[in-house]
Amino acid sequence: MVCLGNICRSPLAEGILQDKSFKAGLTWSIESAGTNSYHTGEPPHPLSQKVAKMNGINISRQRARRFTASDFTVYDKIYALAEDVLQEMKRIAGNEFDNNKVDLLMNELYPGKNMDVPDPWYGPEEGYHEAYKLIEKACDAIVAKYSIPNNEYSMIK
Ligand code: 4NP
Repeated sequence: MVCLGNICRSPLAEGILQDKSFKAGLTWSIESAGTNSYHTGEPPHPLSQKVAKMNGINISRQRARRFTASDFTVYDKIYALAEDVLQEMKRIAGNEFDNNKVDLLMNELYPGKNMDVPDPWYGPEEGYHEAYKLIEKACDAIVAKYSIPNNEYSMIK
């Protein structure tokens, strides 16, 4: 999950997808990062922490880090929270950029619409609630898409 600063949107996305995938019995390894390093090492923004906590998710132990080209060798799927983030990811990853692994997060909910999760960084608390709602719906769609239904799972077993 990648945004610009790794302190507002992508920490929410990391926390929400971790929570939902864990509850769905999936053993995914989920991380977040930012395309800039202004906040490297910092915990998520207090309002992101607050909104997550209001929804029963603790993101206080996360620390911001910068997105790197090597994330393409570590991760199977990389979501950009917005189009400007995606362009920065291309610049940072250079030859390592793998278009097959990347999508805008909101395309999981509204395929092909190329919608951004608006950056709440400069605004009031309401923006953080809005970001949470959008990210949560997209994460629901991801977990539903990749979950193995009960009956299929018993067939595999
Ligand atoms: P985020 O919000 O990308 O959702 O973490 C931002 C936070 C900080 C900055 C930009 C966006 N910044 O440039 O410091």
